[in-house]
Amino acid sequence: MEPRPTITDPSVQSAGRAAARYDRRGHERRQSTTPLVSVVIPTYNEADNVPILVGRLEKALSDIDYEIIVVDDDSPDLTWQVAEELATEQSRLSVIRRTEARGLSSAVMAGFAAASGRTLAVLDADLQHDERILPDLVGAIVDDGADIAVGSREAPGGSYGEFGPWRRFVSWGGAQLARVMLRTPVNDPMSGFFVVSRDRYDLVHERVNPKGFKILLEFLVSGPAPTVTEVGFTFGQRLHGATKLTGSVVVAYLMALLELAGGRFVTARFSAYAIVGLSGVLVRSSVLILFGSLSGAVWWLAIEAAVLWNYWWNNRFTFNAYRQRGTAALVGLAKFHGVAAHGVLVATSASALVIDLVGSESLPVRAVATLAGLALATVGNYHLNRSITWRALPA
Ligand code: GDD
Ligand code: MN
Repeated sequence: MEPRPTITDPSVQSAGRAAARYDRRGHERRQSTTPLVSVVIPTYNEADNVPILVGRLEKALSDIDYEIIVVDDDSPDLTWQVAEELATEQSRLSVIRRTEARGLSSAVMAGFAAASGRTLAVLDADLQHDERILPDLVGAIVDDGADIAVGSREAPGGSYGEFGPWRRFVSWGGAQLARVMLRTPVNDPMSGFFVVSRDRYDLVHERVNPKGFKILLEFLVSGPAPTVTEVGFTFGQRLHGATKLTGSVVVAYLMALLELAGGRFVTARFSAYAIVGLSGVLVRSSVLILFGSLSGAVWWLAIEAAVLWNYWWNNRFTFNAYRQRGTAALVGLAKFHGVAAHGVLVATSASALVIDLVGSESLPVRAVATLAGLALATVGNYHLNRSITWRALPA
C-alpha cells in the first residue's frame, strides 16, 4: 500500500476541524460541515455484509472526514434494518430505504443526490471492492485535480482476483466494447468502484441515465472529457449472498452502450435490431457458401436459417425485456415469419421501383436499389415486429 494522500485543501481542513467540535451524536455535524468524501453503498440483500463493510470503512477512512450512505431497495433480508441499527451507533452512517424505485444505478444516483461530500464515492457492499484504496482515490481528486478516480482491476496493482474465465471474459469484453464505442480511455470502465468530484457530479448528473450497471460510463462520457485516474485493486470474492449480475443485466448493459453511443440518432433498440439483421445476412451467406449451391432448396434453407437466427437474437437481445418463452415463442416465431415475408416483398418491390425510376440496370444502380430496399424493409419490419411480434412499448 502506498502512503495515504495528505489533504491539502484548506477549506477541507477547516471543515474537518469544525466536525471535531461536535460530539459523537453527530447529526448537527453532518449538516454543518462538508465531509471530504461521501461513500454511497448500494445494497440489495447484503444484511451480512454491511456491518463488516462499515467496520472496514471506519478503519480505512480514519484519517479523513467522511459520511456513509447506504441505499437499500427494501431488501427482503432486511438489510435496511441492519443498517439503521448500525446508524444509531455510528453517526457518520445514514440509510436511505427505497420502497418504490429499484436498480443499482438509480440507487447510486439517489445516494449521490443525498450526499454532501466534496467527493462522491461508490462501492459494492459485498466486500469485493478493496476499501483500503479509497483514500488514494479521494486524494487523486482533491490533491491531484482528477475529475474521476476509478478503482481499477486493469491498472498496475489491480487484478480480477479469483474471477472465473467466463466472468473475466464478460468484464473484459464489456470494457473493450465501451472503449471502442465510446472512446473512453479508461481501462476498467465497468468498475462499480469509483469516486467523482463534486464539480463533475454537478456538471453531468442531470444527463445520467440511471439504468442498469454502467453508472461509471455515464460519468465518463457525459459532458466534456474528464481527467481520470485509475488506482489498482484486486477484485475480492463476494463474502455473503449472491450476485445480481445475470444474463439480463449483460443484455441491459449492451443496450445501454448502444444508447450512449448512438442514442441521439436512433433508439438503442433499433440499433440492436439492425445489428441482428446484419448478422442474419451473414448467416444466410454462410449457409449458401457452405452448401455451395444456389438450388431452390438451399436458397430457402439459407433464408430460414437467417429468420430463425434473427428471431432468437431479437428475442434474447433486442426485445429482451419482452422475451417470449414456450408457446408464446412459437406464436412469436410464426408472426416473425409473416413480418419477414412482408419485408422480402417491400425490399424487392422497393428496389424494383428504384431501378424503374432510374431507368438503368447497371451494377451501381442495382446495388443502391438493393440497399434502399433493405433499409426500407428493415425500418418497416422493425416497427411491425415491435408492435405485432413482441408488442413492445416505444423505444
Ligand atoms: N439498492 C440496490 N438496488 N442495490 C443493488 C441492486 C439494486 O437493484 N442490485 C445490486 N445492488 C448492489 C449489491 O447489493 C451490491 O452491493 C452492488 O450493488 C453490486 O451488485 P453485485 O450483484 O455484487 O454485482 P457484481 O459483483 O456482479 O458486479 C460488480 O462488478 C461489475 C463489473 O464486473 C459491480 O461492481 C458492477 O457495478 C460492476 O459493473
Ligand atoms: Mn459483487
